[in-house]
Amino acid sequence: MGNIQINNLSFRYDGMTTNIFDDFSLNIDESWRLGLIGRNGRGKTTFLRLLLGELADHGAIQTSVQFNYFPQPVTDPTQNTVDVLTAVANIGSADVWKIQLEMDKLKLNDDILDRPFATLSPGEQTKALLAALFIDDNTFQLIDEPTNHLDAEGRQTVADYLRHKRGFIVVSHDRYFIDQVIDHVLSIDRAKVQLFVGNYETWQREFNRQIQSEQHEKAHLQTEIKSLTANAAQVKQWAGTAEGKKSKAAYRHQGNVNLDKGFLVHKAAKVMKRAKSTVKRTETAIDQKRTLLKNVDDTPELTLNYQPPHQDHILMLDDFQVAQNHQILNAPIFLDLRRGQRVVLSAPNGFGKTTIVHAILGDESLIASGHVTFSKAIHTSYLTQSFETLTGSLADYAEQSGVELPTLLNTLRKLGFERSTFAEDLTDLSMGQKRKVSLARSLCEPANFYIWDEPLNYLDVITRQQIQDLILKVQPTMLVIDHDREFVKAVATSRMALRRPNKASD
Ligand SMILES: Nc1ncnc2c1ncn2[C@@H]1O[C@H](COP(=O)(O)OP(=O)(O)OP(=O)(O)O)[C@@H](O)[C@H]1O
Ligand SMILES: [Mg+2]
Repeated sequence: MGNIQINNLSFRYDGMTTNIFDDFSLNIDESWRLGLIGRNGRGKTTFLRLLLGELADHGAIQTSVQFNYFPQPVTDPTQNTVDVLTAVANIGSADVWKIQLEMDKLKLNDDILDRPFATLSPGEQTKALLAALFIDDNTFQLIDEPTNHLDAEGRQTVADYLRHKRGFIVVSHDRYFIDQVIDHVLSIDRAKVQLFVGNYETWQREFNRQIQSEQHEKAHLQTEIKSLTANAAQVKQWAGTAEGKKSKAAYRHQGNVNLDKGFLVHKAAKVMKRAKSTVKRTETAIDQKRTLLKNVDDTPELTLNYQPPHQDHILMLDDFQVAQNHQILNAPIFLDLRRGQRVVLSAPNGFGKTTIVHAILGDESLIASGHVTFSKAIHTSYLTQSFETLTGSLADYAEQSGVELPTLLNTLRKLGFERSTFAEDLTDLSMGQKRKVSLARSLCEPANFYIWDEPLNYLDVITRQQIQDLILKVQPTMLVIDHDREFVKAVATSRMALRRPNKASD
């Protein structure tokens, strides 16, 4: 087995003031199942792009290993899936069976091959691209966030699939998922990059232990420096008093004055010097520890600009059915969503939940039967599943969305944005950072009701917790789609499982 050698890698994008990687060295064995973790914007995707040779590494990365990247770029999603997959896997049509073999393991039906790629649900697209990635055992796979858009069952299928593979780096913010598939962790923290042998749990334990011991040590050092500083001040005072006393004595016993005073001053100076250098040493030690403490992320409380509605009935769906491409997606929905309720819609990948949301939000061309009634004058804040088209500056975005820029920036800081990122063009932001911009907009705009389509996608673990805590504190009225089991369990007041229509009622 070969390996990937990284020697003293330093990297930053043009215009950045600090390095994303700073003199970083690591040896990765080709057989590892390495989990790459860290908060949004820390440089996980950048690291994969460096390995792929897309960014200048100035010779810091040495390897003979061939890399593949997920998600592979799909140039024409209107093409049939079979054509898209053979193109990204770079194989001829005679070798399609290789992809089918992997699709089987991922529980993906062959009939998707003859459908345009764009008509596959995001979850099906994920599995199809993964199948195309793994047809080649001789390459090292760089898998960037495979779990977004996968439902709980899909995540389990992909976890089982990856557990039987070797030689990859996987980026994921889903702890439960990543814990099942990796044997090494590379953690990009605020102040350093660290490698751990084991899974996410091992990392979490070790990381907490490090933070605790650093904090303990800092407290200890601070007490020490306090008493040293006090000592130094005492020594100084003592030297001064002693000097004064000696001068008075010298008046009385003229003759020995110079010798005694000189001796005393010399002694005091020596003590002072020793005390000062001890203080300095301690300060240097504290400075070093401070870098480590920078590794600890804050999790400030978020705020929501929620205006509790006066009305009791917020959204009503009556005998509601949605159709896409002349096909009815769902059995009739009856819903009476009341103030303070949070209804979570659940259905497997590919069901058409987002289409149903679009119909609820007013796209009448999608409604096959029944009615949507919103209570009068309800202001709804909608968070799309896909990214809004984000370009330009944060100031432009704030203006377009009608939220105050300082409020938006303040929320982004709480969501873990470094200030230096505020100046970047939105196009350059990482996936999670883009998601946070849309999320921050929804948190800041005044709303009586929230429709959030997979809000947790791409968000790091700390942010997920912040969102959950916020919802539990504010108790807003919401309609939510999400696949994260723990989150749904925590925030839902009721759940609605969508079903396909009965054949007879079509
Ligand atoms: N092409 C680019 N030009 C300038 N800055 C960039 C570019 N791509 C990324 N960045 C910046 O580099 C930093 C690291 O981005 P990267 O995409 O590697 O983060 P990440 O760890 O993958 O985050 P996420 O978890 O959100 O996917 C971010 O601050 C991002 O805004
Ligand atoms: Mg990324």
